[in-house]
Amino acid sequence: MTTWTPRCSGDPVADGWVALHQAESWASERMDPQTWDYVRGGAGNEVTLHDNLAAWSRHRLRPHVMTDVSSLDTSVSLFGEKRAHPILIAPTASHSRYHPDGERATLSGAAHAQAIATMSTLASLPVADIGAHAVDVNGRWWMQVYLQRDRSLTYDLLDQAVEAGAGALVVTVDTPSLGARDRDKRNPFGAPTGVTFPNVPAHTVEADSTPTHRRIWNPHLANNVTAADITDLTHRYQVPVLVKGILRPDDARRAVDAGASGVIVSNHGGRNLDTAPATAQVLSEIVAEVTGAVPVFVDGGIRRGTDIATALCLGASAVLIGRPIIWGLTTYGAAGVTHAVDILRTELEMAMALLGATAIEDLSGDLL
Ligand SMILES: Cc1cc2nc3c(=O)[nH]c(=O)nc-3n(C[C@H](O)[C@H](O)[C@H](O)COP(=O)(O)O)c2cc1C
Repeated sequence: MTTWTPRCSGDPVADGWVALHQAESWASERMDPQTWDYVRGGAGNEVTLHDNLAAWSRHRLRPHVMTDVSSLDTSVSLFGEKRAHPILIAPTASHSRYHPDGERATLSGAAHAQAIATMSTLASLPVADIGAHAVDVNGRWWMQVYLQRDRSLTYDLLDQAVEAGAGALVVTVDTPSLGARDRDKRNPFGAPTGVTFPNVPAHTVEADSTPTHRRIWNPHLANNVTAADITDLTHRYQVPVLVKGILRPDDARRAVDAGASGVIVSNHGGRNLDTAPATAQVLSEIVAEVTGAVPVFVDGGIRRGTDIATALCLGASAVLIGRPIIWGLTTYGAAGVTHAVDILRTELEMAMALLGATAIEDLSGDLL
C-alpha cells in the first residue's frame, strides 16, 4: 500500500462512528477484493464465523437495580500488571495491508486506548521495530507465536521479541493447517505483492511440490505442535506463556499442566475448523476446568460492550478483538484503532452501570 488517507474528516468521532459494525462496510470499500475476502472470511460454510457473533446474544444479562453506580472501575490485573480495562487486541497478520505504517499504527492506537496489542508472527514489521515503536509510544505488547517446523528459528525470533519488550507469548495451537477458506482459495495464490513476513525468513520456507488445489499445509505453520512445545517455551522464557485456540476443558487442562500461564478460548475467528463451537458456547466449561489456576481469555465475534460483560460474567478475565481493529486501522489508522477500543470500553461501562456492577469483579454468573 502506498497511498493512504483517512476516511472523511479523519476524525472517527466527528464522522459519527458510534458502533463497531459501521466500520466494517467502510473498511470493505477501501480494500481490494482479495484483501477484503481475506479479512472477512471464515472457513467452509462459515457456520462458526456467524455463530461466534450470534452466540454472545443468546446469553441474557439480568441486571441488578437500586445500586449506586456513580463510580465505575473497569481496571483488571493481568499477570500482576494493572490494566485500565479488559480489552486486548488479538493478533492478526500483515497490518501493512491496511495502513502504510502497519503495526506501528496499531501500536500507537492501542497505546492511546491503553490496550495491550498482540503482534502476529506474520506481522509486516520485524519484532525489533515493533519493540522500538512500543517504547516510543509507551505501549504494551505481547508476541503471538506460530511455531516453525525448525524450532530453533522460533526460539531465535522469541529471543528477539522478549529482548524487544514483549510482555507475554501467545502460542497459537489451533492452526496445524489453515481451514478451507474458499474465498482465499478463489483468489490468486500467495500473498499479494508487497506483503512480506520479516519475522519468518523466506529461506526457511520449504518448497511444496503438491499442486495448489491439493495443498493442506502452510509453510509458515508447524503441523507437529504439542504440549511439550508449551513446556519448552515456559522453560526458556520468563514472560507468561498463553495458549491460544482452546475449545475444550481437557485441552485447557493439558495446557495448564504443560506450564501455560493462561489460555485463550478461540476458534481463530471461524477461520480454521468450520462447525467448531462458538467461543461463547464453550467458555464457561473451560473456566470451570481451570478456574483459580490460570486466567482465561476469549475472542471471537465480540462487537459490543454487552458481549464483553457477558464474557466476564461467564468467567473470562479479559477479551481480545480481531477484525474490528483491522476495520479501524483501515479507515482511520491509529485513531481508528483507539476509537474501536474506546467504543467497546464505553459500552462496557454503560453495561456495568445498567447491571449494577461497579467493578469488573462484580461481573459474575449471578448476572446471567
Ligand atoms: C485477517 C485475520 C488475520 C489473523 N491472523 C492471525 C494470526 O496471525 N495469528 C493468530 O493467532 N490469529 C490470527 N487471527 C485470529 C485472531 O487472532 C482472532 O482469534 C479472531 O480474529 C477473533 O475473532 P474476531 O475477528 O471475530 O474478533 C486472524 C484473524 C483475522 C481476521
